[in-house]
Amino acid sequence: MQTKTYGHFINGEWVVGMETFPNVNPSDTRDVIGHYAQGTEADVRAAVEAAAAAFPRWAASTPQERFDVLDRVGGEILARAEELGTLLAREEGKTLKEAIGEVKRAGQIFKFFAGEALRMSGEHLRSVRPGVEIDLIREPVGVVGLITPWNFPIAIPAWKVAPALAYGNTVVLKPAEQAPASAWALAEILSRSGLPPGAFNLVLGDGTVGASLVAQPGVSAISFTGSREVGRQVAEACARRMIRVQVEMGGKNPLVVLDDAPLEAAVEAAVNGAYFSAGERCTASSRLIVTEGIYERFRAALLERIRQLRVGPALDPNTHIGPVIDEAQLRRILHYIELGQQEGAVLACGGQRLELETPGFYLAPTLFDETDNRMTINREEIFGPVAALIRVRDYEEALAVANDTEYGLSAGIFTRSLRYAHHFRRHVQAGTVMVNLPTAGLDYHIPFGGHKASGYGPKEQGRYAQEFYTVVKTCYVAPEIT
Ligand code: UN1
Repeated sequence: MQTKTYGHFINGEWVVGMETFPNVNPSDTRDVIGHYAQGTEADVRAAVEAAAAAFPRWAASTPQERFDVLDRVGGEILARAEELGTLLAREEGKTLKEAIGEVKRAGQIFKFFAGEALRMSGEHLRSVRPGVEIDLIREPVGVVGLITPWNFPIAIPAWKVAPALAYGNTVVLKPAEQAPASAWALAEILSRSGLPPGAFNLVLGDGTVGASLVAQPGVSAISFTGSREVGRQVAEACARRMIRVQVEMGGKNPLVVLDDAPLEAAVEAAVNGAYFSAGERCTASSRLIVTEGIYERFRAALLERIRQLRVGPALDPNTHIGPVIDEAQLRRILHYIELGQQEGAVLACGGQRLELETPGFYLAPTLFDETDNRMTINREEIFGPVAALIRVRDYEEALAVANDTEYGLSAGIFTRSLRYAHHFRRHVQAGTVMVNLPTAGLDYHIPFGGHKASGYGPKEQGRYAQEFYTVVKTCYVAPEIT
């Protein structure tokens, strides 16, 4: 069967690339969702030129115009949540429920930033000099290049595109080649939203397209979410060009469980954080740091709960955990599992590829027991359904182990003690702290960003998104000319 070909969206027009790559369903590799264009340097240049040409017009748009566009986009996404969620689950492999949730979040993000376009304000200060007034005004940055990963193929494009447009920037989006259909669908909605041609552009393709976007002289800012290695390259390239940059990278997120934790809730949060979305979240709980007094009970209850998890195709309503994204990712995860065993971690469950009725990239949820925080599986981000138990004496050791990592994205603690919960919030080195909640699962209106090697540059989302997507101009005025 001939599948459809999907192209770039540049200057208000659809462009079909010469070369395409297939978007394969990880739950059933016989199912090809479509063929997506592989962008070239010329495509990127054309998109950036279009965005630059559209910038003066969009930067001068009224808050009402921006509100109308973003609100319309958000409304359509929400109205089509089921259909878009099905597409997302089919291309990415997360369950239909998770996928519909993600699509709704994308819609809500557009609605939120529609409101932000209206609420946007500056500041007025008094000068130390008599007769002088000072205004701080926020202006758009210019053309922003957005590079997004495959694990949240609509929510992450949404939380970059919506604030970029709300604050008057024009955009070139380059989504991950492993899951381009959701971003393409978003672009299609944006193409009918009333935006002037060139204000939003989509260029599809692999990492070479992203690299070329970062190198374009017309680009004034880059926002990237993805791996630490690529994040560093992006940040370095932007620093060399002295343009602003925001990079969100991985995590090695700790979930601390203290002796007095509510056991069932802690187990549920561990299962959610470690295994939902097949562990392919940068906020995943990969290190389960558990104090002695509850360790045995926690492990037993966790193993019991993992046994109930059904791995299967993303669109099957009985599935709890879908496949991982592709063969390369599956091999990477299996390599870490092998390494964990070599370094002396005890494999408590899982650890192997699963062959199901439909050919796909299925992995059994995997738990390592009696691990040491120095093991490779506790240092490097695995990005799969793999978690490791680390036994500690007490809260102090738990905190020390939680912070003994290069990363600092999200951190969680389960305890009934106000004192420990409060101390943890203050002293854990992470951009997000969760008390009696899973480390993953973010609100759509709240700032998000990592500390240490997890993030570089201003936070994303919520009201704080303006720190990246606007530049402050300081205006001194002496109104009375004598
Ligand atoms: C979440 O946990 O709800 O790529 C979102 C990621 C993060 C987003 C996590 N940037 O996994």
